Amino acid sequence: MFIGLDLGTSGLKAILIDVNQSILAEASAPLEAVRPQSGWSEQAPATWLDATDAVMRELGAQVSLAEVKAIGLSGQMHGATLLDDADELLRPCILWNDTRSAVEAAALDADPRFRALTGNIVFPGFTAPKLAWVAKHEPATFAKVARVLLPKDYLRLWLTGEAVAEMSDAAGTSWLDVAKRDWSDDLLEATNLSRAQMPRLVEGSEVSGQVRDALATRWGLPRGVVVAGGGGDNAASAVGVGVVKAGDAFVSLGTSGVLFAASDAYNPDAASAVHTFCHALPDTWHQMGVILAAADALNWFARIADKPAATLTGSLGALQAPGKPLFLPYLGGERTPHNDASIRGAFLHLDHATDTKAMARAVLEGVTHAIRDCHDALTSTGTSINRLIAVGGGSRSDYWVQAIATSLDLPIELPVAGDFGGAFGAARLGLMAATGAGAEIATAPKIARTIDPDTKLTAAFAEAHARYRASYTALKGLS
Ligand code: XUL
Repeated sequence: MFIGLDLGTSGLKAILIDVNQSILAEASAPLEAVRPQSGWSEQAPATWLDATDAVMRELGAQVSLAEVKAIGLSGQMHGATLLDDADELLRPCILWNDTRSAVEAAALDADPRFRALTGNIVFPGFTAPKLAWVAKHEPATFAKVARVLLPKDYLRLWLTGEAVAEMSDAAGTSWLDVAKRDWSDDLLEATNLSRAQMPRLVEGSEVSGQVRDALATRWGLPRGVVVAGGGGDNAASAVGVGVVKAGDAFVSLGTSGVLFAASDAYNPDAASAVHTFCHALPDTWHQMGVILAAADALNWFARIADKPAATLTGSLGALQAPGKPLFLPYLGGERTPHNDASIRGAFLHLDHATDTKAMARAVLEGVTHAIRDCHDALTSTGTSINRLIAVGGGSRSDYWVQAIATSLDLPIELPVAGDFGGAFGAARLGLMAATGAGAEIATAPKIARTIDPDTKLTAAFAEAHARYRASYTALKGLS
């Protein structure tokens, strides 16, 4: 048996699979991010450990864990978890959707070595500019930093006692030489850090350590359960839905929105604001467009409307041409294609007839247009998409998935039952680490349904997307 743990932003999810990859048990525990200031987003790492303990005990209550061979880890990317020389936490983790370090990111991005070696813009959400922000604003804390760990790698340190990162997540730090799959001493030095403060690197399908005996006893695991490198949540999800070769892609409607395409070579194009990262499997890379608020935008509106998100999306009926109201989902800034930390969201063109339902539709359409932006950025780099699968909580809305299918003019596949999120991919990486199996086990899931574009509405979505693009420019002028 193999366990996948996915440390998300809004919850930690665990999956237990057998050697045939059948799901035997699932458990989850909620997590919360706090926003102490506009554009900031933090989490207390201690809550990750409590959530892990809760889900492991829940799994154990469902099925005996005595046959578990491996655990794979997936996690929200880019967070800066800072530890002192006794491995004590120095401050709350600064998360992927925190844009406070925009000034520091721009300064690092202006150093041509960053784009040349990482293949990416230095986005404010990435890890290196966060450290530059801490150095400037919290110098006493920076002076004590003995280790910098990504969120799931902090979980690994607790699980195994080992400080290890893997390539897909490390690629999102702005310190990795993404072609060589190794830390860059030059880039670390540019932020006054060194390799000594960074974890050892493994591939996602390699062994990174073993579960500590005390935790094994607590959870009913056998001794010597190995922990695989795992992956950043997007790379792990890709392994989960079999997106491991060029042409295969997924769209994820989680807290963030992601359009992810696997590639068999390292083909960066930083200027497009597309992310080019290592995949969680050796010798593979991927490209993705990332928007900071997808389901997050819908949940934000659901809180304001005081209705569950599912009620809002469930009331929409069949797909319609986009309405006049427009929503720009830039609640905490945007990555692809704008790389703009200061832009904020907006509703436009409201009138007396605009009601909650029309606004909910506008939110789904706004995120759809933002995914279309990611698609245009990805294809501008020469990436092509032959097969597209939808994952993440938002994919439970047919309306939303068909809006995206229509906007991208691509059919979208929906996997049979279930959330083939990062946890399942992480469990697969655990299986690979324990058995030596390779990418061949990362098969595509059974497809329940394919949602086709509504060709009668393609032109209307294209026209609305053009209005959306123009609105960004206008909004920028106002901010
Ligand atoms: C990817 C990114 C997000 C987080 C969400 O670059 O920042 O998708 O990984 O968990």
